[in-house]
Amino acid sequence: MNQYQQVCETLQAQPKIWLVTGVAGFIGSNLLETLLKLDQTVVGLDNFATGHQYNLNQVQALVSPEQWAKFKFIEGDIRKLEDCQKACSGVDYVLHEAALGSVPRSIADPITTNDTNISGFLNMLTAARDAGVSSFTYAASSSTYGDHPALPKVEENIGKPLSPYAVTKYVNELYADVFARSYDFKAIGLRYFNVFGQRQDPNGAYAAVIPKWTAAMIAGEDVFINGDGETSRDFCFIDNTVQANILAATTQDDAAKNQVYNVAVGDRTTLNDLFNAIKVALNENDVNYAKDAVYREFRAGDVRHSQASIAKIETALGYAPEFRIDAGIQLAMQWYVQNLK
Ligand SMILES: NC(=O)c1ccc[n+]([C@@H]2O[C@H](COP(=O)([O-])OP(=O)(O)OC[C@H]3O[C@@H](n4cnc5c(N)ncnc54)[C@H](O)[C@@H]3O)[C@@H](O)[C@H]2O)c1
Repeated sequence: MNQYQQVCETLQAQPKIWLVTGVAGFIGSNLLETLLKLDQTVVGLDNFATGHQYNLNQVQALVSPEQWAKFKFIEGDIRKLEDCQKACSGVDYVLHEAALGSVPRSIADPITTNDTNISGFLNMLTAARDAGVSSFTYAASSSTYGDHPALPKVEENIGKPLSPYAVTKYVNELYADVFARSYDFKAIGLRYFNVFGQRQDPNGAYAAVIPKWTAAMIAGEDVFINGDGETSRDFCFIDNTVQANILAATTQDDAAKNQVYNVAVGDRTTLNDLFNAIKVALNENDVNYAKDAVYREFRAGDVRHSQASIAKIETALGYAPEFRIDAGIQLAMQWYVQNLK
């Protein structure tokens, strides 16, 4: 039995109270699903800025009525300290996912991204500290590597941020570290690398690449590749990300706290290869997309290559990603075809 399986067994035997912020979003709703299936009690906080009620409805349909009864939803905003305080009250473990994602969104509107991702983060950190929670795990980002050229990315070597979004995620790490020094409140930051999977939103101007392309292919529309297609990413299936969160939240090892960890697979896939992988997987689900990709300009703020070293999280938290990109794409495409076609 690996570390994650052991932790899940222990949680089922001794359930905890969790707070998931951003619970109506992609990652938050997947955390909610896994936690409820493990018979945990979950408080969820969201203001539906980019999340959706239908994500919560879908989770409800995937768990038993008894499990769903252990979920309490608070519609609220992390930019309001009192909403954070209400949500943190009586909670054991906080998984802080609420933020405004997307590099281009932050370039278009840095002020709203800053308010949510920095002021909102500070409210959550303060409320969690004051509530005396046992652990605080937050969504950091691979964008913090910025212009640092080294591959694979190791946690201690970061460059300059390339977007307002990247600044906000780096500031989260700085605040978390200062809270450890100033108040002995030790958080764990998870630098996610391009997470994908069920319930990732395909709609809107700021959709991530996999859901955006998938929706376009299902609708028979053009798929645009920014740049020459040789831009690469370490795409990480959502179930790996959920595993990392549960391991981080429950670690008993003090040395593993007040740290940041890469959460990825350790692979690198180009956009051209991704395009083909999605096309093939959709074909297996009876969606036949015949068009070639349309190439256009590189996008401002995007890093050229990204690939994680996952050695640190493997060693410190016992993380062992179960899904590489192909297996994840298979599962994600089944979901998109069922839900979008
Ligand atoms: N998806 C990725 O590849 C990726 C990569 C790196 C980091 N992250 C981070 O992971 C977290 C979750 O991202 P996601 O992909 O699930 O995005 P998402 O947009 O699906 O989820 C974010 C959720 O936060 C909520 N939210 C936003 N502002 C809020 C506010 N002021 N108060 C309360 N709730 C608010 C949204 O309504 C949404 O439900 C974010 O912090 C994001 O920056 C994601």
